Amino acid sequence: MTYKLLLLPGDGIGPEVMAEVERVVAWANARGHTKIETETGLVGGCAYDAHGEAISDATMRRASTADAVMLGAVGGPKWDGVPYDQRPEGGLLRLRKDLELFANLRPAICYKALADASSLKRDRVEGLDIMIVRELTGGVYFGEPKEIKDLGNGQKRAVDTQVYETYEIERIAAVAFELARLRRNQVHSAEKRNVMKTGVLWNEVVTRLHQERYADVTLHHILADNCAMQLVRAPKQFDVIVTDNLFGSMPSEPVSIGATDAHGRRRALYEPVHGSAPDIAGKGIANPIATIASFAMCLRYSFNLGKTADNIEKAIAFVLDEGYRTADIAQENCRTIGTAEMGKAIVAALDRMSA
Ligand code: IPM
Ligand code: MG
Repeated sequence: MTYKLLLLPGDGIGPEVMAEVERVVAWANARGHTKIETETGLVGGCAYDAHGEAISDATMRRASTADAVMLGAVGGPKWDGVPYDQRPEGGLLRLRKDLELFANLRPAICYKALADASSLKRDRVEGLDIMIVRELTGGVYFGEPKEIKDLGNGQKRAVDTQVYETYEIERIAAVAFELARLRRNQVHSAEKRNVMKTGVLWNEVVTRLHQERYADVTLHHILADNCAMQLVRAPKQFDVIVTDNLFGSMPSEPVSIGATDAHGRRRALYEPVHGSAPDIAGKGIANPIATIASFAMCLRYSFNLGKTADNIEKAIAFVLDEGYRTADIAQENCRTIGTAEMGKAIVAALDRMSA
């Protein structure tokens, strides 16, 4: 089966880390593990520079016909003055909204070799394995009205609207419960029911769905602010966390998926969420591991190539065990290498593993 993969490297370090995905694709194709045809398009500030909008209709069409889409990163200080409707982030938001990618899966794991590179103590993060399930097409990101009004007296009023309907909460909670069943069977549902009506409804819908269809899963309700604190204090208490669009906007490497269509095809967008890191862009020192790990998720979830995905994940862990690091995770007694060297090291490890 030949798969079409659309690559949208975007801005900043996006193109550098995406080049390493292309290296892994070339390896996997050459070895006969995959048949992937890649195409490349523009999103974000670079798309704005090229044609005045953060993503073009033509690119959107290619994204909706591809078997999967991978995104690098968007934005940077260069586009700070761009009108709100054309801002680079708008390209990413349009992809999410128009492709109806309502579920954003953000796994957070700790590679064994990196337990000491974390700002948290080793015993707090070693063996960490969390799945954050973020609602991605609703809530305050998209709710109307969304505006800044001039009040005419030298004052302005800005409004964003947090809005959720029952079906939106139900379908995201169902994704979380289903995933929990494949993992450690625990779901934390995080909202702010103590101050927000959307939190009250969220809590009510998740509770009902749990009773009706997922009573075998252990459900905990947690206030979103406490959840953020617990994630820093004792992250290993969590298995699956389900939360809304705003509260779920935290770092990890995500895949955004939609519902399956009539042909059983599921739309999906894969991206590392380290951002465009404009301060180090173009220096060849960015860490490509999260992007390569996102590609592994693409193989697993969109192309049904779980074994190759497993091997890529093992190769990453292996290279870290060998002591290779990029600058962001540099450690004493380890060797700091650049973006391309890290990509090559991972491909070399894959080669050795499949020899
Ligand atoms: C993320 C990012 C995006 C978001 C930005 C780039 C719009 O921070 O995926 O979390 O806030 O959704
Ligand atoms: Mg974010």
